[in-house]
Amino acid sequence: MGIEQKEYRQRQQEVMSKIGGGTAIFRSAPLATMHNDVEYTYRQESSFYYLTGFNEPEAVAVFAPHHKEHQYILFVQPKDPEKETWTGYRCGVEAAKEIYGADEAYPIAELNEKLPQYLVNADRIYYHLGSEDCFNNIVIAHWLKLMRGYQRRGQAPLAIEDTRPLTFPMRLVKSPGEIAMMRQATKISAMAHNRAREFARPGVYEYQVQAEIEHIFRKEGGIGIAYPSIVASGENACILHYIENDRQIQDNELLLIDAGCSYGYYNGDITRTFPVSGKFTPEQKALYEIVLEAQLKAIAEVQPGKPYNEFHDIAVCVIVQGLLDLGLLQGDLEEIIQEEKYKPFYMHRTGHWLGLDVHDVGTYKHNEEAWRNLQPGHILTVEPGIYISPFIKPAEGQPEIPDRWKGIGIRIEDDLLVTADGHDILTADVPKSVAEMER
Ligand code: GLY
Ligand code: MN
Ligand code: MN
Repeated sequence: MGIEQKEYRQRQQEVMSKIGGGTAIFRSAPLATMHNDVEYTYRQESSFYYLTGFNEPEAVAVFAPHHKEHQYILFVQPKDPEKETWTGYRCGVEAAKEIYGADEAYPIAELNEKLPQYLVNADRIYYHLGSEDCFNNIVIAHWLKLMRGYQRRGQAPLAIEDTRPLTFPMRLVKSPGEIAMMRQATKISAMAHNRAREFARPGVYEYQVQAEIEHIFRKEGGIGIAYPSIVASGENACILHYIENDRQIQDNELLLIDAGCSYGYYNGDITRTFPVSGKFTPEQKALYEIVLEAQLKAIAEVQPGKPYNEFHDIAVCVIVQGLLDLGLLQGDLEEIIQEEKYKPFYMHRTGHWLGLDVHDVGTYKHNEEAWRNLQPGHILTVEPGIYISPFIKPAEGQPEIPDRWKGIGIRIEDDLLVTADGHDILTADVPKSVAEMER
């Protein structure tokens, strides 16, 4: 399983057909270090990886469709047996052509010398001015130098244009090869959640549950976590990105687990919440049923042709109605939604794109008014929740929350592929009904 070289070639061709007379520059992710000089596991920048399949730092990919000889150029770290003894295999310059199909490849140290020939006749430069100031400055310096010749030559790249409009629409619609990778990432994620639910008991520490989950990620061939695993017992579940995972789980608490496996850089993202002692308390059950209904109704809205916001809107509607029925909100449903008075209980949106990035790229709207319509090949999460923090502050005019409701946090999250006739729940192997959560 994996993305074939042919597919990378197609992606490169698509970018080149979009940029025409321009030259696009993509930079690899830097290699991060801890303790001054100990390297973290390398994680390539997702768009760079999407276009090249190249998984090393200190690399630059250039696409210059108008260039006479080379349209796809890679700058890479050269082979260096001594350095490779310490830090591992490098593909090197020659293999960058043979394996990755570049028309030309150079050592990264020659970037300043070799790059101008690919920019000089471009009508613009496509480049994402990211947070990497040093590399931004290199690109800008080349651009300014070419602009100084504009009067004399009558031609120069007249603008730097962001690369996101090139890559985002491509990455948003997953290919069959990518869908296969996502199926594997979500399958391993599902296995880990099922194991965690069997394992978790009162008296166990959150980190022990985390260890069971992450053991499965790696054992089943994943490269590790898609994001820091959230294993949140009791009131910790009201902290959306709780990652300390250091508390001992107590009787009659809920355990919220939000964890996903990364498989070949594609990511699963699943949340389940269940009673560790085997039975929901009445308050836990009442809230769980609302979240589950919100999730099921939201999932039903995930259909090709539906605007992206609809599954969120229906989830909010179900949650607000549920909280009204329980007396935790008071007043008119429409007004509560309009004035966002439900936000102390539900402060995040109901989902996001999922893929090479956990919060994957792709715009949610076409402009201020128009939401994007779902289409086959989109992959997204559906993850409503209700959180009643011990410190919850009800919105103005809303009732105080009785203590018996406090400290309950619930989220249910699945990963969906939009298909031609509806959707496919990639994480359907993890149960979520009330009966299946109890034991
Ligand atoms: N685990 C991150 C998220 O659900 O968005
Ligand atoms: Mn999640
Ligand atoms: Mn998510």
